[in-house]
Amino acid sequence: MLPVSFDDIDAISRIETESFAQPWKRQAIIDELDCPAGCHLAAKDFLPPQPHAVVMAYIFVRFLTDEMHIMKIAVAPQWRNRGMGEALLSAVQIEGNRRGAATALLEVRSANIAAINLYKKTGFQTIGIRPNYYPQTGESALVMSKRLKEES
Ligand SMILES: CC(C)(COP(=O)(O)OP(=O)(O)OC[C@H]1O[C@@H](n2cnc3c(N)ncnc32)[C@H](O)[C@@H]1OP(=O)(O)O)[C@@H](O)C(=O)NCCC(=O)NCCS
Repeated sequence: MLPVSFDDIDAISRIETESFAQPWKRQAIIDELDCPAGCHLAAKDFLPPQPHAVVMAYIFVRFLTDEMHIMKIAVAPQWRNRGMGEALLSAVQIEGNRRGAATALLEVRSANIAAINLYKKTGFQTIGIRPNYYPQTGESALVMSKRLKEES
Protein backbone atom coordinates (compact mmCIF):
# COMPACT_ATOMS: atom_id res chain seq x y z
CA MET A 1 0.00 0.00 0.00
CA LEU A 2 1.14 3.53 -0.78
CA PRO A 3 0.35 6.89 0.80
CA VAL A 4 -2.42 8.85 -0.95
CA SER A 5 -1.11 12.01 -2.61
CA PHE A 6 -2.90 15.09 -3.91
CA ASP A 7 -2.31 13.71 -7.46
CA ASP A 8 -4.74 10.90 -6.56
CA ILE A 9 -7.73 13.16 -5.87
CA ASP A 10 -9.32 12.84 -9.34
CA ALA A 11 -9.20 9.03 -9.22
CA ILE A 12 -10.55 8.98 -5.66
CA SER A 13 -13.38 11.37 -6.61
CA ARG A 14 -14.33 9.02 -9.44
CA ILE A 15 -14.36 5.96 -7.16
CA GLU A 16 -16.39 7.93 -4.57
CA THR A 17 -19.06 8.66 -7.20
CA GLU A 18 -19.09 5.02 -8.33
CA SER A 19 -19.27 3.69 -4.76
CA PHE A 20 -21.49 5.91 -2.60
CA ALA A 21 -24.97 7.45 -2.89
CA GLN A 22 -23.58 10.51 -1.08
CA PRO A 23 -19.96 10.67 -2.28
CA TRP A 24 -17.49 13.00 -0.63
CA LYS A 25 -16.95 16.14 -2.66
CA ARG A 26 -13.45 17.01 -3.83
CA GLN A 27 -12.99 19.55 -1.00
CA ALA A 28 -13.92 16.96 1.64
CA ILE A 29 -11.23 14.64 0.25
CA ILE A 30 -8.68 17.48 0.32
CA ASP A 31 -9.65 18.37 3.91
CA GLU A 32 -9.27 14.73 4.94
CA LEU A 33 -5.81 14.49 3.33
CA ASP A 34 -4.83 17.65 5.21
CA CYS A 35 -5.87 16.19 8.57
CA PRO A 36 -2.70 15.66 10.62
CA ALA A 37 -4.33 12.90 12.70
CA GLY A 38 -5.08 10.92 9.54
CA CYS A 39 -3.49 8.05 7.66
CA HIS A 40 -4.46 7.65 3.99
CA LEU A 41 -3.40 4.59 2.03
CA ALA A 42 -4.13 3.40 -1.50
CA ALA A 43 -3.57 0.44 -3.76
CA LYS A 44 -2.35 1.77 -7.11
CA ASP A 45 -2.11 0.23 -10.57
CA PHE A 46 1.25 0.93 -12.23
CA LEU A 47 0.75 -1.20 -15.32
CA PRO A 48 0.69 0.19 -18.90
CA PRO A 49 -1.13 1.67 -20.74
CA GLN A 50 -1.50 4.11 -17.85
CA PRO A 51 1.20 6.79 -18.00
CA HIS A 52 1.13 7.10 -14.18
CA ALA A 53 -0.11 5.18 -11.14
CA VAL A 54 -3.90 5.00 -10.86
CA VAL A 55 -5.73 4.44 -7.57
CA MET A 56 -7.69 1.17 -7.46
CA ALA A 57 -8.76 1.34 -3.80
CA TYR A 58 -8.21 3.53 -0.75
CA ILE A 59 -8.72 3.77 2.99
CA PHE A 60 -8.77 6.85 5.21
CA VAL A 61 -8.42 6.55 8.98
CA ARG A 62 -8.02 9.02 11.82
CA PHE A 63 -6.24 8.44 15.11
CA LEU A 64 -8.10 9.93 18.10
CA THR A 65 -6.72 9.18 21.58
CA ASP A 66 -6.14 5.42 21.49
CA GLU A 67 -8.72 4.76 18.75
CA MET A 68 -8.26 4.29 15.04
CA HIS A 69 -11.47 5.48 13.35
CA ILE A 70 -12.09 4.18 9.84
CA MET A 71 -13.52 7.12 7.91
CA LYS A 72 -13.63 5.65 4.38
CA ILE A 73 -12.83 2.50 2.50
CA ALA A 74 -13.66 1.92 -1.15
CA VAL A 75 -12.51 -0.29 -3.99
CA ALA A 76 -13.18 0.69 -7.63
CA PRO A 77 -15.97 -1.54 -8.96
CA GLN A 78 -13.73 -3.32 -11.50
CA TRP A 79 -11.24 -4.28 -8.75
CA ARG A 80 -13.70 -5.66 -6.18
CA ASN A 81 -13.74 -9.25 -4.86
CA ARG A 82 -9.97 -9.67 -5.24
CA GLY A 83 -8.97 -9.17 -1.61
CA MET A 84 -8.18 -5.45 -1.80
CA GLY A 85 -10.62 -4.49 0.96
CA GLU A 86 -8.99 -7.01 3.28
CA ALA A 87 -5.50 -5.85 2.26
CA LEU A 88 -6.37 -2.20 3.02
CA LEU A 89 -7.73 -3.07 6.47
CA SER A 90 -4.65 -5.14 7.20
CA ALA A 91 -2.34 -2.28 6.15
CA VAL A 92 -4.04 0.30 8.40
CA GLN A 93 -4.03 -2.18 11.26
CA ILE A 94 -0.23 -2.37 11.01
CA GLU A 95 -0.16 1.44 11.14
CA GLY A 96 -2.57 1.39 14.10
CA ASN A 97 -0.31 -1.00 15.98
CA ARG A 98 2.72 1.15 15.17
CA ARG A 99 0.94 4.21 16.61
CA GLY A 100 -0.25 2.32 19.70
CA ALA A 101 -3.99 2.36 18.91
CA ALA A 102 -5.96 -0.01 21.14
CA THR A 103 -9.17 -0.22 19.12
CA ALA A 104 -10.39 0.21 15.54
CA LEU A 105 -13.90 1.68 15.17
CA LEU A 106 -16.24 2.31 12.27
CA GLU A 107 -19.84 2.96 11.27
CA VAL A 108 -21.44 1.10 8.38
CA ARG A 109 -24.90 1.29 6.78
CA SER A 110 -26.92 -1.56 8.20
CA ALA A 111 -27.85 -2.66 4.63
CA ASN A 112 -24.26 -2.68 3.33
CA ILE A 113 -23.83 -6.46 3.38
CA ALA A 114 -20.54 -6.52 1.40
CA ALA A 115 -18.87 -4.12 3.85
CA ILE A 116 -20.36 -5.80 6.96
CA ASN A 117 -19.11 -9.19 5.75
CA LEU A 118 -15.68 -7.71 5.07
CA TYR A 119 -15.49 -6.25 8.58
CA LYS A 120 -16.72 -9.46 10.22
CA LYS A 121 -14.22 -11.51 8.22
CA THR A 122 -11.40 -9.27 9.43
CA GLY A 123 -12.37 -9.54 13.10
CA PHE A 124 -14.76 -6.65 13.74
CA GLN A 125 -17.77 -7.13 16.00
CA THR A 126 -20.99 -5.11 16.16
CA ILE A 127 -21.08 -3.10 19.40
CA GLY A 128 -24.07 -0.83 18.74
CA ILE A 129 -26.65 0.61 16.37
CA ARG A 130 -27.16 4.29 15.63
CA PRO A 131 -30.75 4.80 14.36
CA ASN A 132 -31.28 7.40 11.58
CA TYR A 133 -27.52 7.88 11.26
CA TYR A 134 -27.71 8.82 7.57
CA PRO A 135 -30.02 11.86 7.39
CA GLN A 136 -30.64 11.66 3.61
CA THR A 137 -32.16 8.17 3.85
CA GLY A 138 -32.95 7.70 7.53
CA GLU A 139 -30.92 4.48 7.49
CA SER A 140 -29.31 3.20 10.65
CA ALA A 141 -25.62 2.47 11.11
CA LEU A 142 -23.95 -0.45 12.83
CA VAL A 143 -21.05 0.55 15.04
CA MET A 144 -18.32 -2.07 14.75
CA SER A 145 -15.05 -2.40 16.60
CA LYS A 146 -11.96 -4.54 16.77
CA ARG A 147 -9.36 -4.77 19.50
CA LEU A 148 -5.93 -4.02 18.03
CA LYS A 149 -3.63 -4.75 20.93
CA GLU A 150 -3.89 -6.77 24.08
CA GLU A 151 -3.90 -5.10 27.51
CA SER A 152 -0.40 -5.07 28.99
C1 LIG B 1 -16.97 -3.16 0.77
C2 LIG B 1 -15.79 -3.19 -0.19
C3 LIG B 1 -14.74 -2.16 0.30
C4 LIG B 1 -15.19 -4.60 -0.22
O1 LIG B 1 -13.97 -4.57 -0.95
P1 LIG B 1 -13.44 -5.86 -1.78
O2 LIG B 1 -12.04 -5.58 -2.17
O3 LIG B 1 -14.40 -6.18 -2.87
O4 LIG B 1 -13.52 -7.00 -0.66
P2 LIG B 1 -12.57 -8.29 -0.56
O5 LIG B 1 -12.36 -8.85 -1.94
O6 LIG B 1 -11.37 -7.96 0.25
O7 LIG B 1 -13.53 -9.30 0.21
C5 LIG B 1 -13.32 -9.66 1.56
C6 LIG B 1 -14.61 -10.22 2.15
O8 LIG B 1 -15.62 -9.21 2.15
C7 LIG B 1 -16.91 -9.82 1.94
N1 LIG B 1 -17.48 -9.34 0.68
C8 LIG B 1 -16.87 -8.58 -0.26
N2 LIG B 1 -17.73 -8.29 -1.27
C9 LIG B 1 -18.91 -8.87 -0.94
C10 LIG B 1 -20.18 -8.92 -1.58
N3 LIG B 1 -20.41 -8.31 -2.76
N4 LIG B 1 -21.18 -9.58 -0.94
C11 LIG B 1 -20.99 -10.19 0.23
N5 LIG B 1 -19.79 -10.19 0.89
C12 LIG B 1 -18.76 -9.53 0.30
C13 LIG B 1 -16.65 -11.32 1.87
O9 LIG B 1 -16.74 -11.83 3.18
C14 LIG B 1 -15.21 -11.37 1.38
O10 LIG B 1 -14.57 -12.57 1.74
P3 LIG B 1 -14.63 -13.85 0.73
O11 LIG B 1 -14.03 -13.37 -0.56
O12 LIG B 1 -13.80 -14.88 1.42
O13 LIG B 1 -16.07 -14.20 0.59
C15 LIG B 1 -16.25 -2.84 -1.65
O14 LIG B 1 -17.37 -3.66 -1.98
C16 LIG B 1 -16.62 -1.40 -1.87
O15 LIG B 1 -15.76 -0.55 -2.19
N6 LIG B 1 -17.93 -1.07 -1.71
C17 LIG B 1 -18.41 0.31 -1.93
C18 LIG B 1 -17.91 1.26 -0.86
C19 LIG B 1 -18.34 0.83 0.52
O16 LIG B 1 -19.48 0.38 0.74
N7 LIG B 1 -17.43 1.02 1.51
C20 LIG B 1 -17.71 0.68 2.89
C21 LIG B 1 -18.33 1.82 3.59
S1 LIG B 1 -18.57 1.45 5.31
